[in-house]
Amino acid sequence: MKYFLTTAIDYVNSRPHLGTAYEKITADIIARYRRLAGYDTHFLMGNDEHSQNVFKRAQEQGKDPLAYCDEMERVFRDVWTRLDVSYDDFIRTTDRKRHFPATQKMAQACYDNGDIYEGSYEGWYCEGCEAFKPEKDLIEGKCPIHNTTPQWIKEKNWFFRLSKYQQPLLKLYAEQPSFIEPEVRRNEILRLVEGGLEDVSMSRAGQSWGIPVPFDPESVVYVWFDALINYAAAVGYGWDDELFAKWWPANLHIVGKDITRFHCVIWPAMLMSARLPLQGQVFGHGWVYFKGERMSKSLGNIVDPLDAANRFGPDPLRLYLAKEIPYGGDGDFTWERFEEKYNADLANNLGNLVNRVASMTERYQQGRIRAGGGGSLAAIASQAVAAYRTAMDGHALHDGAAAAFRLISAANNFIAETQPWSLAKDPAKAEQLNGALADTAEAVRIAATLLAPIMPSSATEILRRLGDDRPLKDRRFDADTTWRSSGEKQILNAGALWPRIEAEKGVSTVSAESPKPAEQPATQAGPAPAPGAPAAGAAAAAPVAPAAGAAPAAPVAPGAPVAPVAPVAPATITIDDFMKVELKAAKVLEAERMPKSQKLLKLKVDAGEAEPRTILAGIAESYEPEAMVGKTIVIVANLAPRKMMGIESNGMVLAASPDGGKAIVLNAEPATPGTRVR
Ligand code: MSP
Repeated sequence: MKYFLTTAIDYVNSRPHLGTAYEKITADIIARYRRLAGYDTHFLMGNDEHSQNVFKRAQEQGKDPLAYCDEMERVFRDVWTRLDVSYDDFIRTTDRKRHFPATQKMAQACYDNGDIYEGSYEGWYCEGCEAFKPEKDLIEGKCPIHNTTPQWIKEKNWFFRLSKYQQPLLKLYAEQPSFIEPEVRRNEILRLVEGGLEDVSMSRAGQSWGIPVPFDPESVVYVWFDALINYAAAVGYGWDDELFAKWWPANLHIVGKDITRFHCVIWPAMLMSARLPLQGQVFGHGWVYFKGERMSKSLGNIVDPLDAANRFGPDPLRLYLAKEIPYGGDGDFTWERFEEKYNADLANNLGNLVNRVASMTERYQQGRIRAGGGGSLAAIASQAVAAYRTAMDGHALHDGAAAAFRLISAANNFIAETQPWSLAKDPAKAEQLNGALADTAEAVRIAATLLAPIMPSSATEILRRLGDDRPLKDRRFDADTTWRSSGEKQILNAGALWPRIEAEKGVSTVSAESPKPAEQPATQAGPAPAPGAPAAGAAAAAPVAPAAGAAPAAPVAPGAPVAPVAPVAPATITIDDFMKVELKAAKVLEAERMPKSQKLLKLKVDAGEAEPRTILAGIAESYEPEAMVGKTIVIVANLAPRKMMGIESNGMVLAASPDGGKAIVLNAEPATPGTRVR
């Protein structure tokens, strides 16, 4: 079965940043997952070059625009290669063989079908968005995304009859609910289209940088109309019918939430007008923030993805982005948190597990393992595989990653429980010893296979150490995630994959530093002392914090058994649990009482997203609607939408709510809407 997926094509007026890289990495994870699942996958990316900003940037640098775009193509491709993004095709909108004929063919088809007419446009245009901006979308006269004052333009334009497609689009959304994901984006688009659609410009006058309109060569095709066509152009539209029949329609367009309107409204309307099949789905991912602010060139808070990849290699970055940001929601990147997660997930958990299996197998069994019977770990593995599959099929990449890590943690716990180092002391327990090591190695093999789409080179390396050096392209999900209870493996002990970067303060893990004698359990001799190895077994049950003032830990010595993370006390939650709740500052734009309700106020709030959201809050007994307008409050942004009294509430307002008393809404003044609260 074929699977054709795409990302947005990037403006090339500046280098890729971590926000744009987030989109490509997450799309790559989906592409790699589909390949693993056996789909004939085609993954398209590209560059959007006919933007005025691109033209200006080339001029500033005294370059011919096309020569500038050629240079930027190399810059972009180099970054994507460094991040291990496995695109199958890369299209540029200046591609004369593919993109020009496709754009002209589609413009002509829409024109021939009566959907393009001549008019004149007068209004605001934001060059940052490359979009015409209705006055109501401006905040204090500025574009809310770029915080710049748009240009007032008046020019002859050709218009595309978008208004004609309001009903067909609503029908499409109703008949195919998965057309727009996630739910929050679907609701935004539904509200937008239900509110009525205006016709949109599809050309710009008086410009030379662009594709000539076929029925008016004095004008060029408007950059967005041009850009959307890339998806069809790349696979043959207008230049190779056979190829086009093979791949079109796209199964999935992955784009940021700021441009879902173009992909969920304008693009399907263009396809309907040109009588072409529609794409299967649009997934609108959230934004990557840096310390609470949207990462963007204009705000000057860019993280270079190469800096992040160079810190520990591309895989830890890919894992961070997939696992720490619920896909579809917004997420934050900070260097501190990135390092913290590197230590927790990779150095202490997965890396440690791989080391333990390899070093113990080497020490006790000369590196050889005969597959064991399965047992408790096999059951956990099969649950993890099922949960992973459901998550990944639904693009819940964070849940997929979490499922793989549940298996990894379980395998670490299994070692602590079975204590291979104790079994090794008794020759009569050789079978048991082999069984414990074999089960752990099998769990690692399955976990590595699950992680392969997210961390391709690390997974390949782990699998190689487990005696399987097939390339990822030869692996298949079902066969390679099934528990194997027969066969032999030769395991390679090849040193730490991810050395710890610093001693963690007060965290319940032990590093590979030698423990003080007092920390050695008297009754546990542990394995034959490896340099830097703490006493295993007991350490697992009673983790030891690094000594006060301990120097940063040295990289984990190969084979050093390290205790797993301590069990969490039942009355508490971890920081990870807490971070699952997405709290945000939001500004109340409108408030009104809900008819027939004593308790509920209906609020329209700006939470820094593409569109305001509606929240029903049980605060009507404490606040008059007018008193709420203009307040910056705290909301739970990732609460599942809930319908009350016929209105869908998207989130929850936080308030101190004394029993029998009046609610006091939490104040987040003067935070900017969208700032993460934690
Ligand atoms: N050229 C248009 C897309 C045309 S698609 C037919 C464009 N380009 S862009 O360079 O501004 O953005 C490329 C993609 O990166 C978009 O999907 C955008 O949403 C995404 N992101 C830009 N900044 C981002 C973050 N800070 N975080 C996550 N995604 C971000 O729009």
